[in-house]
Amino acid sequence: METLYTKRLVLRPFKTEDAQAIYKNWTSDPRVAKYCTWYPHNSVEDTKMYVDMCMKKNYCWAITLKGSDEPVGAIDVVGVTDDGAAHIGYVLMQSQWGKGVMTEAAKTVIAELFAQGFKVVGACHHPDNPASGRVMQKCGMTYVGNSMQNKKFDSEELCEVKIYEIQK
Ligand SMILES: CC(C)(COP(=O)(O)OP(=O)(O)OC[C@H]1O[C@@H](n2cnc3c(N)ncnc32)[C@H](O)[C@@H]1OP(=O)(O)O)[C@@H](O)C(=O)NCCC(=O)NCCS
Repeated sequence: METLYTKRLVLRPFKTEDAQAIYKNWTSDPRVAKYCTWYPHNSVEDTKMYVDMCMKKNYCWAITLKGSDEPVGAIDVVGVTDDGAAHIGYVLMQSQWGKGVMTEAAKTVIAELFAQGFKVVGACHHPDNPASGRVMQKCGMTYVGNSMQNKKFDSEELCEVKIYEIQK
């Protein structure tokens, strides 16, 4: 997996030693976890498992700001559909929200996934999390409909999500 560069960011593979910073920056934050399928981590041990998982994935980047190697967020492919569309997910620590960071990261990841051969990139968000939908819109994605999804990874409870896609 390539390291990707944008004007302000470096998107790089995860490293084992990232766990402490990631725990401090976002995995322990309930506000960040609210509309994600994971629960806030109770200890850095939980985050170590998450980092291990990220290191094994094909498309999973730690987002850093140029000039610092500390991860402030993550962006990854969370699934590939039967017809070959890559679905992305992303997360950013609170102090970096509202500065266009995720839009900058997502635009670059979408371009990379197209370069890797995906013809469609999709993403979805909870209707009560419009900032995420705004990122999708700013990346040129189009709203294609709603679907039901498990609210949390270990829960049977479903919630409605809005799906966006962009074609190559
Ligand atoms: C969603 C998230 C990734 C956005 O990252 P970000 O770097 O702040 O996003 P950007 O700054 O690129 O864009 C956010 C946009 O949402 C808008 N926005 C923020 N809060 C909003 C709200 N309550 N309603 C509508 N729009 C909102 C911002 O104004 C901005 O749009 P603009 O540039 O047109 O003004 C970040 O808030 C996050 O990590 N949240 C927690 C985890 C999460 O929800 N991940 C996505 C799961 S689907």
